Amino acid sequence: MRWLALSLAALAVPSQAALRFGCSTVSIQRLDPLVEPGKVPSAHLHQIVGGNAFNASMDPADGDVAEKATCTTCTFSEDFSNYWTAVMFFKHQNGSYHRVNIMQNTALPNGINGGMTIYYTQQDFFSNGNQKITAFPKGFRMTVGSPTASSKYGVGLKFVCLQNKGTRFPELDDFPAQRCAGGIMTVHHFPSCWDGKNTDSPDHQSHMYITTKDAFQNAGPCPSSHPVRVPQVAYETLWDTAKFNQMPGQFVLSFGGKGYGTHADYLFGWKDDALQKAMDNNCMFQACENGRPLKSQGVQAMNQCQVKSTVAENIDGWLDELPGGSMDM
Ligand SMILES: *[C@@H]1O[C@H](CO)[C@@H](O)[C@H](O)[C@H]1NC(C)=O
Ligand SMILES: *[C@@H]1O[C@H](CO)[C@@H](O)[C@H](O)[C@H]1NC(C)=O
Repeated sequence: MRWLALSLAALAVPSQAALRFGCSTVSIQRLDPLVEPGKVPSAHLHQIVGGNAFNASMDPADGDVAEKATCTTCTFSEDFSNYWTAVMFFKHQNGSYHRVNIMQNTALPNGINGGMTIYYTQQDFFSNGNQKITAFPKGFRMTVGSPTASSKYGVGLKFVCLQNKGTRFPELDDFPAQRCAGGIMTVHHFPSCWDGKNTDSPDHQSHMYITTKDAFQNAGPCPSSHPVRVPQVAYETLWDTAKFNQMPGQFVLSFGGKGYGTHADYLFGWKDDALQKAMDNNCMFQACENGRPLKSQGVQAMNQCQVKSTVAENIDGWLDELPGGSMDM
């Protein structure tokens, strides 16, 4: 009997709780409601996924985005958050620029239109550990990285030279020096320690503290200044760079700077307590779908959700300059 009790206890331990899901592109335009609220157009181009309440201002005083949005491009249909990064361009040696398309990731349902893979992990890639993970409060937002960084900014902001869509290592701090047969992946890990009080801060970063390590490893303990452990949010974006591999030139991000300036923005918008419910669960990746415990939707519904550009400018084909110009670092 003793043996039986032990093995049942072992089975009951929640060991793997993590979200990994696709969101198709909801918009590609020059808006940045976090860093340049209300400014149309913003300084550089972003690719955005998530809820269709995305617009230039998104002032928390305007209300809950989960109430304002009517659809989302994410698998989890109660996630109206917005997630965005800079866009990648190819700068031809002749001075022209061409936007690089986004490819869907592996391990996601087929047919997703561009977009990103979003993670909310707990302890690390494989395990939830045993500490309480507190979901973000309404109105929460944060950024990671800085377009003006001219050297490595911090941990967790990475480039991967893809041989194929499954390549994950090595993780690089800047653009790969060589051309990559399978494209380039950008990875953005956000900090996971929160001060427990502020949903934002003037630099959109100091309410958070980074103990995160590279490559979905277990983060260090949170400091007393930022004691609340929140989900470890990370983005993966796969860029279809291969079609430019025979041309002379280099890849740049939409602000024109080096890869060190890679950055990402997060604006929380889960409905009610859906994210907390997931963090208290022991589901893993696709097993969290279909109401166990999260409501989910298929690829067609994800792709149908769109936000029209409010910025009248051409971002396709060969361009004489980057939309908004280049910081030329
Ligand atoms: C964004 O949407 C809110 C309403 O949801 C609206 O009040 C605001 O004017 C919009 N801002 C812009 C710049 O379109
Ligand atoms: C640069 O090269 C591309 C690709 O061949 C071409 O389409 C574009 O017009 C060129 N730009 C200039 C300024 O020559």
